[in-house]
Amino acid sequence: MRTTHIPGTDLKPSVICLGTGGMGSSIEREASFAMLDALVAQGGNFLDSAKVYADWLPIERSSSEKTIGRWMKARKNRARIIVGTKGAHPDLKAMNIPRMSPQEIESDVDASLEHLQTDYIDLYWLHRDDPSRPAGEIIESLNVHIKAGKLRYIGCSNWRAERIRQAQAYASTHGLQGFCGDQMLWSLAAVNTAGMADKTLVAMDEPLRTYHTDSGMAAIPYSSQANGLFNKMAVGKLKESPATYRLPENEQRLARIRQLAAESGLSITQIALGYLTSQPFVTIPIVGCRNMEQLTDSLSAGDVVLSPAQVRYLETGQV
Ligand SMILES: NC(=O)c1ccc[n+]([C@@H]2O[C@H](COP(=O)([O-])OP(=O)(O)OC[C@H]3O[C@@H](n4cnc5c(N)ncnc54)[C@H](OP(=O)(O)O)[C@@H]3O)[C@@H](O)[C@H]2O)c1
Repeated sequence: MRTTHIPGTDLKPSVICLGTGGMGSSIEREASFAMLDALVAQGGNFLDSAKVYADWLPIERSSSEKTIGRWMKARKNRARIIVGTKGAHPDLKAMNIPRMSPQEIESDVDASLEHLQTDYIDLYWLHRDDPSRPAGEIIESLNVHIKAGKLRYIGCSNWRAERIRQAQAYASTHGLQGFCGDQMLWSLAAVNTAGMADKTLVAMDEPLRTYHTDSGMAAIPYSSQANGLFNKMAVGKLKESPATYRLPENEQRLARIRQLAAESGLSITQIALGYLTSQPFVTIPIVGCRNMEQLTDSLSAGDVVLSPAQVRYLETGQV
């Protein structure tokens, strides 16, 4: 699998990041370890977790982070893994109340370090935004932990372009570290934002795309396979598309994927993920895989490079 470079950092992650939301919960520990081993065996080194995963289930808290911590300890590979995890998520029972005070950030950072059994986090993500709080104050809070050596780099997730601009401007005028990446909902599938159940999620839109194009900031999208939408449509496994992707445009995109697959010999997965890894700014899709078969299939996209014309064709149908 190819590796890339996150601008403004010394991080050289694999071009595909493994999402670990289900590790230690819907994917039991042994199977999680096997999938993490398989990622490394295939040249992967980049993980995405969050303190809140999978606290919606009646099991041990922070099962994803704890599973990664146990795996890194068992494999003695902490130094070779780029660990990304997220904090400052609202309480699951009060999603409309942000948790972004300096104290909440500090207690989340410390808890994640403990779960991961490490003394530093390579890339710490703010899971959500709190638009009522000045972006500069949030940057200040995070830089305290960078200076203390707990965090190496920071990123934001589900932030609007204007807020990212404010955070980056504050960081640069105050000599502080800003965000090196942004996580948003983004895949080759067209998104019906009105159908998104969680209104605190932010999908890729034109202002964000312009921001990434102009600034060169890395995009690290989640739901990068639209939850397997095109593979499922292709084999007639979907009676009805999930509301987030229920748009006639996605039928047309599947037709274009099929056309490109026929011409190139690439699989649906390789085209869907290659669309992201071939963007004009560094884009590292986070894949969520339920089993080894899906993981192997998803990682097979790690060497795919599509041309700008192919990327344009997939999205717009223009040749
Ligand atoms: N920052 C945020 O707010 C945020 C939000 C959501 C997720 N995330 C991160 O992103 C990760 C991935 O998100 P996601 O699970 O939504 O991503 P995803 O890769 O779009 O969806 C995963 C689902 O796609 C299907 N799938 C995966 N690989 C497949 C393949 N090769 N062929 C066919 N179907 C395949 C499976 O569905 P089935 O189970 O139906 O087979 C799988 O459960 C999470 O683990 C988490 O780390 C971050």
